[in-house]
Amino acid sequence: MKICIVGTGYVGLVSGVCYSEVGHYVTCVDKDMKKVDQLKQGRSPIYEPGIEELLVSNQQKGRLHFTDDLAEAMREAELIVIAVGTPANKDGSANLSFIEAVAKEIGTHLTSYKVIVTKSTVPVGTGQKIKSWIQDYCGKMAFDVASNPEFLREGSAIYDTMNMERAVLGVESKRAEDLLVELHRPFDTKIVITDLATSEMSKYASNAFLATKISFINEVANVCEQLDADVTKVAEVMGLDPRIGSAFLGAGIGYGGSCFPKDTQAFIQMGERAGYSLKIVPAVEKVNFEQRERLVQKVERAFGGAGLKGKQIAVLGLAFKPNTDDMRAAPARDIIPMLMTAGANVVAYDPIAMKEAASYLPHVTFSESWREAVCGADAVMFITDWKEFKDLNLKELKQELASPIVIDGRNLFEPQVMKDLGFYYDSIGRMKIELEGESYEGTSNRGSRLHRQKLS
Ligand code: UDX
Repeated sequence: MKICIVGTGYVGLVSGVCYSEVGHYVTCVDKDMKKVDQLKQGRSPIYEPGIEELLVSNQQKGRLHFTDDLAEAMREAELIVIAVGTPANKDGSANLSFIEAVAKEIGTHLTSYKVIVTKSTVPVGTGQKIKSWIQDYCGKMAFDVASNPEFLREGSAIYDTMNMERAVLGVESKRAEDLLVELHRPFDTKIVITDLATSEMSKYASNAFLATKISFINEVANVCEQLDADVTKVAEVMGLDPRIGSAFLGAGIGYGGSCFPKDTQAFIQMGERAGYSLKIVPAVEKVNFEQRERLVQKVERAFGGAGLKGKQIAVLGLAFKPNTDDMRAAPARDIIPMLMTAGANVVAYDPIAMKEAASYLPHVTFSESWREAVCGADAVMFITDWKEFKDLNLKELKQELASPIVIDGRNLFEPQVMKDLGFYYDSIGRMKIELEGESYEGTSNRGSRLHRQKLS
């Protein structure tokens, strides 16, 4: 099948690469010529495991092309995929200006029947708008619009697309349905065929539900902390019920990223405009933000209410999740300013997101390694669950720290192990390890060892 994909962001690029990998002929269009040139050379503008190998091999096989010329790219295509961004407006609603511009351009260049399918996350009703925008510009030319939302996760986007568990096809004609079924045939996936509005809604409902699971388990964790229960075990028990499922029950500092925060807000806006005020989703957002505040309170508590002024805090992990350099709505962007407002000096490290983070966190000192970041620090906070952190040598960590205070926002370590090693250890919804009879006092000099003060 010949496919034209408009937009080489996360969704467009990953879809283009994967469609060509399964044998379709794909031309990806982007207005940014620099990006197009980079892609032609096999270099990916996004960090995504496995993407560059596929970029190179499918271009070599002649199944994947990049251009900035939409008219040329769509001429031969049977299917046009819209995958441009839908950033959030000030009020949280989705901004459709890029979609509108692309639809009008497609209308202008339409010279034969094509199916125009939207993969971007768009509010319910956008498919109909796209239809009328194209109609305004294409004269009497026949076409169909369709909706096929994308569910891929950053960091495992190639795997998720190649192994998609479902494809939702929102269609208005058998012709469009047949073409989209054909597109998905090589993926051997479960296909749900429905109308445009239902397909568009399914994306918001899915993401809002996953966000709800996270905030729900975070609230359970907060109660567990008060009652000496262990949230990880509670989540394990809950997850064994197939009606609940174990995924997205990882308690922590809440969700971030380019999808959940934006989509939950857009969902709330969509409800308001449709005359229904959602009640659960706004609560999910509130819980999500408060998890960040709670982590800062945990480090404050570790110093026994002495405040964070002059304390040196090592922050390990900046990206909103591992295996990405994406800092969009990353918890670190809330947590670090809170620490700094409280007077702490922050030294941060992330395996790959530091360059990206620097523009959001201009006053932070960045380190070349976790060791350098924690050296002489009064406490370390774990923000992202990178494997590098899970695997780090805890004895070495203790040696480097000025005081053995670990605040773990991702439940990376076992409380009992931390206790045996002599750490003060506070995580999310689990046993807190305190050091009896000792309190810690910070230092403002980076690199100098802290004095332990025995309480009399
Ligand atoms: C998400 C959806 O999973 C995907 O289907 C959709 O298309 C886009 O949004 P993504 O944003 O890439 O994907 O990341 P995901 O792996 O879903 O994690 C989102 C956030 O939730 C991260 O900040 C992660 O740390 C957090 N999370 C996830 C938890 O806090 N606990 C969990 O148990 C799972």
